[in-house]
Amino acid sequence: MQTSPNKKQLVIGNWKMNGSSAANAGLLRSLLPVISSLEGVEVALCPPFPYLSTVADLLDDSDVALGAQNLSTELTGAYTGEVGGTMLRDIGCRFVLVGHSERRALYGEDDACVAKKFATALQAGLIPVLCVGETLVQRQSGETQAIVTAQLNAVLNAVGFNDLVKGVIAYEPVWAIGTGETATPEQAQAVHRHIRQWLASQHRAAAADCRILYGGSVKADNAEQLFSQPDIDGGLIGGASLDAMSFAAICSAAQVKPTS
Ligand code: 13P
Repeated sequence: MQTSPNKKQLVIGNWKMNGSSAANAGLLRSLLPVISSLEGVEVALCPPFPYLSTVADLLDDSDVALGAQNLSTELTGAYTGEVGGTMLRDIGCRFVLVGHSERRALYGEDDACVAKKFATALQAGLIPVLCVGETLVQRQSGETQAIVTAQLNAVLNAVGFNDLVKGVIAYEPVWAIGTGETATPEQAQAVHRHIRQWLASQHRAAAADCRILYGGSVKADNAEQLFSQPDIDGGLIGGASLDAMSFAAICSAAQVKPTS
């Protein structure tokens, strides 16, 4: 059981809480001409909320999709300070990150909250990108597969398999995020294979079609090796997505997947 050969790899840039109007415009001015020539890879960018509309305008003539980094558990209503999925869809978002480890660790999002956000994203017509991954302590105590499976099960139990595979899964080991310490291609592939097999135990064909991205210190010089692993279908890129040439090189590394 491996990824379907017909599926395009997907690379998503997560800008986190970085950028400014001027910096974003400069980044896109350098980035878009380079990635417009790439084929066989889908690219999306997730700027912070205040810049979504402006970035949407700047992406208008490109094939690059827009995504948000978070959404409310609720669609609309009296929730001061929250941003609803319907609004994100309205301003042109296609993707939304759900359950990023920074939200889980720093903002107390538990599995139930993440599952609710995943369901709300689908209701709003967005593609949720479900982030899962273990901490260093959990890896060292041999719990990686159990943690990832529990995070997936929480969403499966809330929305069912058919809806789960309408989303994208991103494996982001917490110890590799922003640390410069990337999972080796073998370590990443082992967890991706586990996720694929877990999906296949529910439905074989849908498991092959589901995109599973790797995130955690992906850089221009390690992207190709990671993306060539049989169960890795692209990447979720933090720091390196803020540099036009690095991100373009990462997108380019995702272009061609050797058939295995
Ligand atoms: P880095 O690429 O900076 O490690 O961040 C990964 C990440 O958290 C993407 O969502």
